[in-house]
Amino acid sequence: MAIADTMPGDGGLTSLQVMRDAPVIPVIVLSQVAHAVPLARALVAGGIRMLEVTLRTPVALACIEAIARDVPEAVAGAGTVRSAGDAQAAAMAGAKFAVSPGYTHAVGKACRELGLPLLPGVATASEVMAAQEGGYLALKFFPAMQSGGVAMLKAWQGPFGDVTFCPTGGVSVANAGEFLGLANVACVGGSWLTPADAVAQGDWARITRLAREAAALMRAG
Ligand code: 3PG
Repeated sequence: MAIADTMPGDGGLTSLQVMRDAPVIPVIVLSQVAHAVPLARALVAGGIRMLEVTLRTPVALACIEAIARDVPEAVAGAGTVRSAGDAQAAAMAGAKFAVSPGYTHAVGKACRELGLPLLPGVATASEVMAAQEGGYLALKFFPAMQSGGVAMLKAWQGPFGDVTFCPTGGVSVANAGEFLGLANVACVGGSWLTPADAVAQGDWARITRLAREAAALMRAG
């Protein structure tokens, strides 16, 4: 049974709701806490509010805290969650969902216990089955382009007709439409909404434009 799809987290949010909120989940890498709030506001202004802040920098948790505190219109989640400890730290910082590059039962269990909706990463059929065993049917397909792209997702429609995917990795505004046209894709993930140079320069208007363009993408799933 798809526990994580039906069982709401603390805030009543499910993994599927995270995926269905907008066509794109931005994958965000922040090196300065001061950038977190204006970046989140810029994305929200463009119509994107589910924000994946990756735990790849020393300030990531502080950035999640700042967004959770100061940008109530945004829903900050933690990306690059690789352990139960990462999931706990993310929840403590106020993350409302978690995204992991792969799936382990330890991460799945921790997120279930924390009531933290999880989008676990999968790249093979066996990984889809492992995530399913953990109760997860709303999955990140990662790295999407390197793992077979649109053709792989089409092949999975047969055996995994009840699974919904968020392809991430090598996805951009140029190819997002192909993914979003698939019935088993609810959204895509990508870093293209938050270019490092725009963040460094504080070019929030550019990020709002990229978010607006992403929010307008059409989807079938
Ligand atoms: C990541 O985890 O870095 C994401 O897959 C982003 O990939 P992208 O930079 O190709 O969008």
